[in-house]
Amino acid sequence: MAKTMNDDIKTVLVSEEELKEKVKELGQQISADFAGKEVFFLGVLKGCFIFMADLLRNVDLCCDMDFMAVSSYGNGTTTTGAVKISLDLNKDIEGKHLIIVEDILDSGVTLSYLKKYLSNRNPASISIVTLLDKPERRKADIKADYFGFTIPDAFVVGYGLDYAEKYRNLPYIGVLKPEVYEN
Ligand code: IMP
Ligand code: MG
Repeated sequence: MAKTMNDDIKTVLVSEEELKEKVKELGQQISADFAGKEVFFLGVLKGCFIFMADLLRNVDLCCDMDFMAVSSYGNGTTTTGAVKISLDLNKDIEGKHLIIVEDILDSGVTLSYLKKYLSNRNPASISIVTLLDKPERRKADIKADYFGFTIPDAFVVGYGLDYAEKYRNLPYIGVLKPEVYEN
């Protein structure tokens, strides 16, 4: 039989059911915390695309949203340290409560750069919501205001997260088999 995407996964770290429940909780918490405020959700592409879609359907706020595309990685599994903006935000965020939506907070290099970059546009506040947090690998001094799951130092894929642009469409968070990297 032909090999499927699921055959490349060693372990499931966060199941579909766990993701669904946690994303709902995060949406409800953000809705409560920002009730009555002018909120702007900014998704960091491409990793955020599934999380953001699910999160915003659990947010009961009359809010604005847009995306930026940023990369700090090559095709490997460790950061290069350099952040490149390939799609900038063209909307006015002055006076708005900005909520940055990320897939994972790893070294923190990307988010600390983005936070500084966006604070120059004078939003009322900047918060970070990340689905996953890998605190062991942190290099920059940055914390998420909201996070879904703390995970160990392993390279994960699925639910938006990729390895060399693949596996984003897995409906859960998983760890790849080591032989996948070796090929
Ligand atoms: P940071 O700048 O090191 O925090 O890296 C953040 C970005 O690296 C995330 O937005 C992801 O795109 C990517 N990244 C970090 N860890 C992983 C992982 O385990 N799997 C997939 N992508 C990752
Ligand atoms: Mg990425």
